[in-house]
Amino acid sequence: MAILIGDVAPDFEAETTEGRIKFHDYIDGSWAVLFSHPKNFTPVCTTELGYTAKLKPEFDKRGVKVLGLSVDRLENHAGWAADIAETQGATLNFPLISDVDREIATKYDMIHPNANDSLTVRSLFVIGPDKKVKLKIEYPASTGRNFDEIIRVIDSLQLTAKHQVATPVNWKNGEDVIIVAAVSDEAAREKYPDGWKAPKPYLRIVPQPRA
Ligand code: BEZ
Repeated sequence: MAILIGDVAPDFEAETTEGRIKFHDYIDGSWAVLFSHPKNFTPVCTTELGYTAKLKPEFDKRGVKVLGLSVDRLENHAGWAADIAETQGATLNFPLISDVDREIATKYDMIHPNANDSLTVRSLFVIGPDKKVKLKIEYPASTGRNFDEIIRVIDSLQLTAKHQVATPVNWKNGEDVIIVAAVSDEAAREKYPDGWKAPKPYLRIVPQPRA
């Protein structure tokens, strides 16, 4: 059965470039990004992994643990890491799971047989500290993902988990947000004594709450 937003991310044990992990124990209390790429020693994947390594300080700042996954062998990961360093100028600094038996890929529906029956597509899950899936995306092998967008979504997810707000189209950290419908005008007045802009009664816009 497909894993949907709001579901608990399935637990698993895996060999990674940083040793054997039990997923739920590894991410305990943190946010996490689990993403698959189709194959080691391929061009798009090389750029994605290099860029994600460069973004590690941004993930760290947000308390997010990143894990990559492919169905390649562990020894193969180590050799490819050298290529990533050489061509992308970034050292692999997060665990890369070796899922040779495709057990995790199958659990997470990362193999789409009508695209390719043995390789994973570009799946990505953002998982909250409650271990529930907050976001999932799936891209084909030919299209590299935008990991800056993943950071943007994490900013929205972390903000909306803390405050009763939602983020509008193309929102970026620091920009105005929307008061959710569940908050009455009376309750909103307490939280936002300076008021809000309301071009429609259901569209209440306020500056982004801090902290
Ligand atoms: C790539 O990363 O470039 C790639 C991987 C698998 C299939 C096609 C392209």
